[in-house]
Amino acid sequence: MAPTPLRQGVPTAIAAFATLAAVVGTLSYLDIPSLLTQRKEAKKVSKARYNPNDTPSLLAFKALVEQDTLPSTYPLASSIERNIPIYDARSLNLNDAKVVEEFQDEVFHILYHGPGVLVMKNFFRDLSLIDAANSAFTAIINREAEAKLSDPAYFGTTKYDKTPNAWISNSFSKLCLQDPETFLDYFSNPLFPVICSAYLGPQYKITAQVNAVRPGGKPQHLHRDYHLGFPSREDVAKFPKQMHELSRLLTMQGAVAHADMPAESGPTRFLPYSQGFGEGYMATGREEFKQYFAENYVSLPLEKGDALFFSPGLFHGAGENVSQDVDRIAHLFQVSCAMGKTMESIDTHPLIEATYDLLAGMQGKEGTEQQVDAFVQSVAEGYPFPSNPDKRKPVPGSKGPESEQQLLRRALSGKWEKAKLMEELTSMRVACQAST
Ligand SMILES: [Fe+2]
Repeated sequence: MAPTPLRQGVPTAIAAFATLAAVVGTLSYLDIPSLLTQRKEAKKVSKARYNPNDTPSLLAFKALVEQDTLPSTYPLASSIERNIPIYDARSLNLNDAKVVEEFQDEVFHILYHGPGVLVMKNFFRDLSLIDAANSAFTAIINREAEAKLSDPAYFGTTKYDKTPNAWISNSFSKLCLQDPETFLDYFSNPLFPVICSAYLGPQYKITAQVNAVRPGGKPQHLHRDYHLGFPSREDVAKFPKQMHELSRLLTMQGAVAHADMPAESGPTRFLPYSQGFGEGYMATGREEFKQYFAENYVSLPLEKGDALFFSPGLFHGAGENVSQDVDRIAHLFQVSCAMGKTMESIDTHPLIEATYDLLAGMQGKEGTEQQVDAFVQSVAEGYPFPSNPDKRKPVPGSKGPESEQQLLRRALSGKWEKAKLMEELTSMRVACQAST
């Protein structure tokens, strides 16, 4: 039997549809819609700033955050739990440049477009290193408590009023000066530059703090972090809208668990995808957003040595420690892009002085290139500005002067004595000062 012929209009409709799809595809490929939007915006002045009295749309916020993280989006992740990608350092081969590149693509995507937070299991595999750091932190906490340098009340005391919570500002410098060897081993972890540069580019700067929350420790309020997470809503609103977007790109938050953190100890609560909410800094203080956060946050237990990294724009807050006997000890990191200002200042010279001989010894051993490189990027300043162009000339092949990191690398490869390096670093610092 002969096949039934198609009705005459059907092929025409299919052809028209194919033509339309091709046109739409071409426009989309050439990004014509956004080019047209740009041209339209170029002709019309719109509000540069948010109005602090306007109420951000909770409906729009829900549309953003109520989505699922798909395992297929992050093939290198070992699992997705409560919308958060979980990686395992044991299965990431950092000697494979292709793996590193793909992992960095995933990290950037997670923090910018995706759920905004990732967990790295076994960030530190040698837990004796965590123990050594904890011993140094305890010595620092005791010393500062005796000198009444830190104010535990600032971070809340426990409801049992037994032992106050503990806090160390600038633990980065203090750990180095307390125990240089542990500091070297800790910050030569090659995962630091892989993750930090994935989001912030090269020349990032690490600052760090220790937070120990005892049983009974209260939860934190919902917030975003430094920079724009700190001022009042009225002051935040003085910044143009694009600066709100920029703020979350200039730093990255991180934390290493220095003790097991079961759910009852109150690991940090997150609302995945909320970092992408444009009006986020205007919204965290509002009751309806606080309530939504309280009803929808997720948190994950961590084991000692695990790390997590998240966008400072993510809606989050530390949980409540309702355990009877778990001290939730976290080493917190705030990593800053070279083009931003860090929250804490770090004097690199004493740190380099305390670790240079140890670092030179590490470099002398085979197979330590990644560790040495990671440590140089942590301990010394990678950005050569602010500078004084009258006194400091560009290095060959660049329009900028030499950075501390470049100088430290020259010292290591030239096998300089420490005294010579420190002299050069001092000369560099003096030459950077403004002419008057
Ligand atoms: Fe925070």
